Amino acid sequence: MHLSLAAAFLFLLGLSYCLTLPIPHEDSDEFTTEDLQFAERYLKTHYNLRSSPAGIRKKNANSVAAKLREMQSFFGLEVTGILDEETYELMQQPRCGVPDVGEYNFFPRKLKWSQNNLTYRIVNYTRDLTRAEVDRAFKKAFKVWSEVTPLNFTRIRSGTADIMISFGTKEHGDFYPFDGPSGLLAHAFPPGPNYGGDAHFDDDETWSTDSRGYNLFLVAAHEFGHSLGLEHSRDPGALMFPIYTYTGNTGFLLPDDDVQGIQALYGAGDRDPNPKHPKTPEKCDENLSLDAITELRGEMVIFKDRFFWRLHPQMVDAELVLIKSFWPELPNKIDAAYENPMKDHVFIFRGKKFWALNGYDIVEGYPKKIYELGFPREMKTIDGAVHIKDTGKTLFFTGDKYWSYDEENQVMEKGYPRLIEEEFPGIGNRVDAVYQKNGYIYFFNGPLQFQYSIWSKRIVRVLKTNSMFWC
Ligand SMILES: *[C@@H]1O[C@H](CO)[C@@H](O)[C@H](O)[C@H]1NC(C)=O
Ligand SMILES: *[C@@H]1O[C@H](CO)[C@@H](O)[C@H](O)[C@H]1NC(C)=O
Ligand SMILES: *[C@@H]1O[C@H](CO)[C@@H](O)[C@H](O)[C@H]1NC(C)=O
Ligand SMILES: *[C@@H]1O[C@H](CO)[C@@H](O)[C@H](O)[C@H]1NC(C)=O
Ligand SMILES: [Zn+2]
Ligand SMILES: [Zn+2]
Repeated sequence: MHLSLAAAFLFLLGLSYCLTLPIPHEDSDEFTTEDLQFAERYLKTHYNLRSSPAGIRKKNANSVAAKLREMQSFFGLEVTGILDEETYELMQQPRCGVPDVGEYNFFPRKLKWSQNNLTYRIVNYTRDLTRAEVDRAFKKAFKVWSEVTPLNFTRIRSGTADIMISFGTKEHGDFYPFDGPSGLLAHAFPPGPNYGGDAHFDDDETWSTDSRGYNLFLVAAHEFGHSLGLEHSRDPGALMFPIYTYTGNTGFLLPDDDVQGIQALYGAGDRDPNPKHPKTPEKCDENLSLDAITELRGEMVIFKDRFFWRLHPQMVDAELVLIKSFWPELPNKIDAAYENPMKDHVFIFRGKKFWALNGYDIVEGYPKKIYELGFPREMKTIDGAVHIKDTGKTLFFTGDKYWSYDEENQVMEKGYPRLIEEEFPGIGNRVDAVYQKNGYIYFFNGPLQFQYSIWSKRIVRVLKTNSMFWC
């Protein structure tokens, strides 16, 4: 059994989900010895950091700083080689235990099965779910891959299958021990004999068929990707992204990045029932349009499809994140967003509903209905929203009209709606997204943004939407 070859597959799971939100006035760069040991273990497990005697160590190539840089680059963080709060928080997220860059990468040949007809066997079960639920979760997880390839999975109930599936805890026979609740969730080995293809699930996790604990179907679909020869993807929208995010209970669609990956190994099948595989937006796409923009505690948060970009004022590179990874209760796409800094709340709109967020938390009593703000009951959506600090008013854009809401008195102002083109001539007759900064309102309409001076009441510049990202 050559585990070194197979080294790539441990599922690391389980601290409760947290990405760093910027929190004002917190001195956060202090790490304890345990924190530093945790970080080192993380780099050993996922970035092949080796503890070698100082004499043998090649200059820097295997140093902690070099491995931190590798990790920061993989996740699209600012590459500093220094353990900062953001990097540390990311290390704590539940994720797959398989290395992001590992042993595996020293073997450039692609590991794949040589035949398309594969067997799997469920060796034993978790007590968290009924056997039927476990069977269904695995069957559905294999279907994710068989729908887009010529692969065929057959379940066998005895003997040795290509893919042996089991639940275990701590040390469970392969020298890649699990770690109790949270931390590592599961792991799987790339195609090959013996352990090759096998998938192990940490039975110290709570497995579920919904959003509680860890969703067995989602973790299994990811693991089976490894069983078939896929490595981790840097695309935060991909199933093969190393970090666990619960993406919802219905209508799972395999992202395009994963389809490209698996079809590069096995080719396409002829029975894809849903050829619409969601693509991850490219910030420098010349045709980029946006869903919503807001500030959040001094950062820009820019929504597009299932994602948002975080843009720190001091940084050029925006970080792309799944909405659900920050706020699992929010929908997968939103219409409008604005921040009310006085309340430290961000308001998020989708259809007739809206949510108030305070950091990671949804404020109690939400979601509410938009008519509670004073909109007519038949109104279906809001396209864009912006809070103007100087006046304390929030402007809402819907269709070719806009409304003005008095935040202090919590009433819609009289005399609205008005036509967008009367008050803001030149920006077109609809708004995708809008924000305000330094006396300007920035209106987004398709691939264009209009910089409007509040003071001189006119457009001062027309820019490409993607110029947000310095493209
Ligand atoms: C695939 O494997 C199953 C189960 O072993 C078998 O019944 C089936 O005939 C195989 N199909 C092909 C094309 O080999
Ligand atoms: C897939 O497996 C099923 C069940 O064993 C078998 O009937 C079928 O022929 C297989 N199809 C292919 C294309 O191998
Ligand atoms: C399930 O099977 C695996 C592999 O044989 C073993 O390591 C593990 O202890 C078993 N778990 C249970 C709960 O029996
Ligand atoms: C942008 O849109 C134009 C017109 O629809 C199209 O010709 C062009 O290929 C698109 N560019 C990209 C990068 O998709
Ligand atoms: Zn993985
Ligand atoms: Zn294992």
